[in-house]
Amino acid sequence: MKYIPVSGKVFDIEEINNAIKVAKDGWWTEGEFAKRFEKDFSKFMEVRYVSLVNSGSSANLVALASLTSKVFDKKRLKPGDEYITTSVAFPTTVNPGIFYGLTPIFVDCDLRNLNIDVSKIEKVITKKTKLIMAAHTLGMPFNLEKIVALAKKYNLWLIEDCCDALGSKYDGRLVGTFGDIATFSYYPAHQITMGEGGSVITNNPFIHRSIRQFRDWGRDCWCDTGKDNTCRKRFGWKMGEIPFGYDHKYIYSQIGFNLKLTDFQAAIGLAQLKKLPYFIKKRKDNYRQYYEFFAKYSKYFNLMKLSKKEDPCWFGFPIIVNPLAPFTRNELTEYLEMNNIGTRNIFSGNLLRHPAYKEIKYKTAGKIVNADIVMNDAFWLGVYPAIGNEEIAYVKKIIMKFLSKYK
Ligand SMILES: Cc1ncc(COP(=O)(O)O)c(C=O)c1O
Repeated sequence: MKYIPVSGKVFDIEEINNAIKVAKDGWWTEGEFAKRFEKDFSKFMEVRYVSLVNSGSSANLVALASLTSKVFDKKRLKPGDEYITTSVAFPTTVNPGIFYGLTPIFVDCDLRNLNIDVSKIEKVITKKTKLIMAAHTLGMPFNLEKIVALAKKYNLWLIEDCCDALGSKYDGRLVGTFGDIATFSYYPAHQITMGEGGSVITNNPFIHRSIRQFRDWGRDCWCDTGKDNTCRKRFGWKMGEIPFGYDHKYIYSQIGFNLKLTDFQAAIGLAQLKKLPYFIKKRKDNYRQYYEFFAKYSKYFNLMKLSKKEDPCWFGFPIIVNPLAPFTRNELTEYLEMNNIGTRNIFSGNLLRHPAYKEIKYKTAGKIVNADIVMNDAFWLGVYPAIGNEEIAYVKKIIMKFLSKYK
């Protein structure tokens, strides 16, 4: 059997043809394909505003940055504010808050779905808490009912990191449509890909304006790339100390970045978006097949235990090796890798154990215990659409061979 990766790009001639169209067109920077992707994605997600960016990490950065805008007055994020997040995380879900001088409050994860443990959030909310920002781990929705209720009760922003969860639903509704902002990644491991890419969505016009400002150098102007005078008074603005009539294109109302993508990426993404319903179905089907198999070995493996409301479009198939099993996670994953089966740990495991986070200022909601279990005992297998019956049968065979040593 050839190596079975945990993830990969699945594409056909349409992605290539779209990229060639961009090359021939000669525009190259964000253009018509980006517009079409944003329109189609907003239809799919049923949200008002979509902004493409060059990665999921940029999406998280611009999402948090947008809430530092003065237009949000008392709700504006400021240095010294606190935000609730979780220690079983991808680093760039947590990092934007640190960059802006906010203090992360790390909440342990729930081992039933590797997500933020909602029962521990309310106790750590203080007057300084302004935001909840967490990911739907491996596509599994976190408890949106409770988190949305907490955000409402305490007037907190909610950013849903949906980088791994495009197509996942909670209580019949797509994740990413519950919070103030949601972010997506189009890196090849994710449900659709652009090579590199991401997007930020919101229904709030003020947040949208702010996202665009931070994404596009911090400028006040909202013209699309290559367009002028959308506001019809390009040389008619008077803002602060800037002389009247100064070109609006070069007036900066935020300390911004340039996080835009190219139209090559958007063109590839547009072709991928058409395939999304099939990708979702295939990921769910692969997950189901693995679940039926691994459930037979419950003395060795702890599988995810989801509520009826959680309907993931799986990023991967997570497994926690039972601490009482006669083998370790590493022994199993080394064996699988030796037999050409790709495995991955659950991102950082416990983020707080990583060298980069030793020097940051943070708080925790009580003890962080489960994140260490995830770090030591958990891993995931691929369920991406190129994995079919043949690969699954092979993985099952190798697992049975491994377990036969322990009978
Ligand atoms: C939960 C989560 N957030 C953010 C990211 C960052 O996305 P990107 O690699 O596109 O920067 C990832 C990457 O896999 C992720 O899994």
